[in-house]
Amino acid sequence: MIEVKELVKHYGDKKAVDGITFTVNDGEILGFLGPNGAGKSTTMNMLTGYISMTSGEIRIGGIDIIEDPIGAKRQIGYLPEQPPLYPEMTVSEYLCFVCELKGVKDIQAHMKEIAAKTGVTGVLSRRVGNLSKGYRQRVGFAAALAGDPKVLILDEPTVGMDPNQIIEIRELIRSLGKEHTVILSSHILSEISAVSDRVLIMDNGKIAAEDTPENLARSEKRDTVKRMLIRIDGESEQIEKVLDSFGDSFTYERINEDYELTLNADAAEDIGRKLFFAFAKAELPILMQKEEEVSLEDVFIELTQKEEKR
Ligand SMILES: Nc1ncnc2c1ncn2[C@@H]1O[C@H](COP(=O)(O)OP(=O)(O)OP(=O)(O)O)[C@@H](O)[C@H]1O
Ligand SMILES: [Mg+2]
Repeated sequence: MIEVKELVKHYGDKKAVDGITFTVNDGEILGFLGPNGAGKSTTMNMLTGYISMTSGEIRIGGIDIIEDPIGAKRQIGYLPEQPPLYPEMTVSEYLCFVCELKGVKDIQAHMKEIAAKTGVTGVLSRRVGNLSKGYRQRVGFAAALAGDPKVLILDEPTVGMDPNQIIEIRELIRSLGKEHTVILSSHILSEISAVSDRVLIMDNGKIAAEDTPENLARSEKRDTVKRMLIRIDGESEQIEKVLDSFGDSFTYERINEDYELTLNADAAEDIGRKLFFAFAKAELPILMQKEEEVSLEDVFIELTQKEEKR
């Protein structure tokens, strides 16, 4: 289990991580989702002991990272945003080197195992510097698996990969999640929701939301307003008279030729039909009527923009 309490990282005046608290259970896959500069990498760098924290507490499998950094780090495999690969080494040399650092006993056998898991068996004799971006990322992934750590921390693991490789890596992450505790980051929603048991949305160094991908999408549907865009053939005065007759079912705003309605959640039911009849009665034809669907994408934008406005 990973326990993080009131974790803070300041860079001068900049609060890169601003007091975050969360836990990750054994075998859980936690996704860090957030826009650029949200503090994902900074948090991961602190979890892995790569950089120091300004204040707070981190425990990995019960071990405090400040009291016993080596013991804590031993349980972690890390794929940083920019994996430290040595271009002159061959893939097998590099992976052997990493296995040695991690104190692996049967290096050759273990290297073959992690190479097979990450699909780099075919490039073991190639120089790291000559690999494609996707394959370099896979080698970084293999290095994170060296020593079979309990916890895997993966910073944007699918960056630079093609769609087929992304699907393979997702499957790999899911299968690793059965034996390992995994934290991964991304600013791509579909990425995170496809593999994570739980999503933690970060923004501006803070946790903006935390839930399962399903619940995040669902709660947004229930709690926040839906929007509708309509275009009516008629004078604005007439149109607004009809709109006003709906009372507090929605608020509206004129945008060029159109009206954007922000629907009250309780009144959203069947509003399209009611609008149709109301405008028909006023002899004002509806030229266009468009409902805006709410997706996890909207949750993300909604939450991170709210934070920005503060
Ligand atoms: N060494 C540093 N010195 C000063 N500021 C830093 C340093 N590292 C990160 N920051 C700042 O801290 C904030 C968080 O950065 P971080 O790299 O953790 O974001 P991120 O969520 O990983 O973003 P991305 O999606 O772009 O990788 C940013 O505003 C960044 O500019
Ligand atoms: Mg980052």
